[in-house]
Amino acid sequence: MSENVINNLIQLGYLVATALFILSLHWMNTPKTARRGVFSAIFAMVIAVLATWAQPGITHHLWVLIPILASIYPGIWLSQVPLTAVPQRTALSHAFGGLAAGLVGTAKYFYWISHEQEMLTAFRMTAIIAEIILGYLTFTGSIIAAGKLQEVKWIPQRPWVYPGQNFVNMGAFGLAILLGLLLIVWPNAGWSPFAFVVIILLSLNFGWMLVMPIGGADMPTVIAILNSFAGLSAVAMGFVLDNKLLITAGALDGSSGLILSIIMCQAMNRSFLNVLFGAFGQVQQSAAAGEQKQYKAETMQGAAQILENASSVVIIPGYGMAVAQAQHKVRELYDQLKKRGISVKFAIHPVAGRMPGHMNVLLAEAEIPYDDLLEMDEINPDMPQCDVALVVGANDVVNPAARTDKASPIFGMPIIDADKARQVFAIKRSKNPGFAGIDNELYFLDKTWMLFGDAKAVIGELVKELSGGSGMH
Ligand code: TAP
Repeated sequence: MSENVINNLIQLGYLVATALFILSLHWMNTPKTARRGVFSAIFAMVIAVLATWAQPGITHHLWVLIPILASIYPGIWLSQVPLTAVPQRTALSHAFGGLAAGLVGTAKYFYWISHEQEMLTAFRMTAIIAEIILGYLTFTGSIIAAGKLQEVKWIPQRPWVYPGQNFVNMGAFGLAILLGLLLIVWPNAGWSPFAFVVIILLSLNFGWMLVMPIGGADMPTVIAILNSFAGLSAVAMGFVLDNKLLITAGALDGSSGLILSIIMCQAMNRSFLNVLFGAFGQVQQSAAAGEQKQYKAETMQGAAQILENASSVVIIPGYGMAVAQAQHKVRELYDQLKKRGISVKFAIHPVAGRMPGHMNVLLAEAEIPYDDLLEMDEINPDMPQCDVALVVGANDVVNPAARTDKASPIFGMPIIDADKARQVFAIKRSKNPGFAGIDNELYFLDKTWMLFGDAKAVIGELVKELSGGSGMH
């Protein structure tokens, strides 16, 4: 095949891959087409890799094959993490994406400065500087974010703060930008390679220093922000390598990460700056050390009876349902209640769980009809008419302190109005607080009864009570 034909085929492959990446994002908009979205993204990535590999300039095929083969096992391992660990697993992907972009930029700079200095135009240098700063800071920032979410011992979960920290961090970042500007003007000076290495070190440092002061509770948002940085570094890499597919795929990645972080910030009523520099979670200690209040516990028989006599039940799932993998039992409970003609709806908070759509995915897995899943804004006006709100491992997203307590770290976050229902049952294992580390007034209300235990076991018990008693009905 002539080189011209191969080049045309490669460009066609890139075009098809770009279209599939865009379609895959579109298909991931609803659970009905999400699976198709995943497969088309995989297919697009395979086309992208093969088209790049087919470039006539690439001759060292063994050097391409070895990393592909070596990455199969880690890839399979990463794909098998539980759903609750997906945020940290995603952070690891961003870390390595950022590192790859940083290394490509570094290799290109040192290759060009020693072999083809005329290639180091102001435009390419701008792209290289953006690529390495964003790539390396994403690398260390994402590693720390993943470690915080995984609760590894050597990374503190609480914000790690000291006086003047924001000043030091911004100073390091500002210095990296300043050196970058100097390099854009003088890419080939004797001191340039040295300045380049200093930029790398400053960016590596800035990444982890940026994330250390942020509490574990904000990590999912930070990961989405790092996602957009990784995407932007890929865009810059696309300009450096003159690869249009990288530019479009990076732009899609960068903008989707940005949109995701905006959605999360809005759902928590926080600003970007507050997430990045607010040291959220610092107040946890004092808030948790409040007076001891009393919970009221209910028996399974009592709870089952009340559920049976309700005419409308709203189930509010949270992170605990994911931990317990209780979605299938929840489905059985749903069936039992529906069988009795009771209206059952699910109230989905946008940040329930640890990533957007976490609850939707679990409930879809248990084949609960989508029509019974209602967003927070849709269900809240109906909460005062609801007989029983059944909270399944949700905590912060039903905490009324968000509405009333100005001192609370979650003040201003929109919540599901579980406290407005006529009666509330809350399932959790212990008296421990939720992700934000604060007490929940909902559990102490007169109308609230606790069902202590693992969500899967508790719901299983309720189902047993209801199926045993169903004959009497
Ligand atoms: P959380 O506030 O984290 O509360 C989860 C509750 O589940 C805990 O109180 C825990 O109590 C209980 N639990 C854990 N394992 C359980 C089990 N096996 N069985 C029964 N209960 C169990 O969850 P939420 O209400 O879903 O709120 C989500 C939090 O994540 C919010 O603070 C939100 O801001 C934050 N966040 C989420 C996102 C996204 S995108 N989802 C992004 C950023 C931040 P026990 O330990 O006593 O059982």
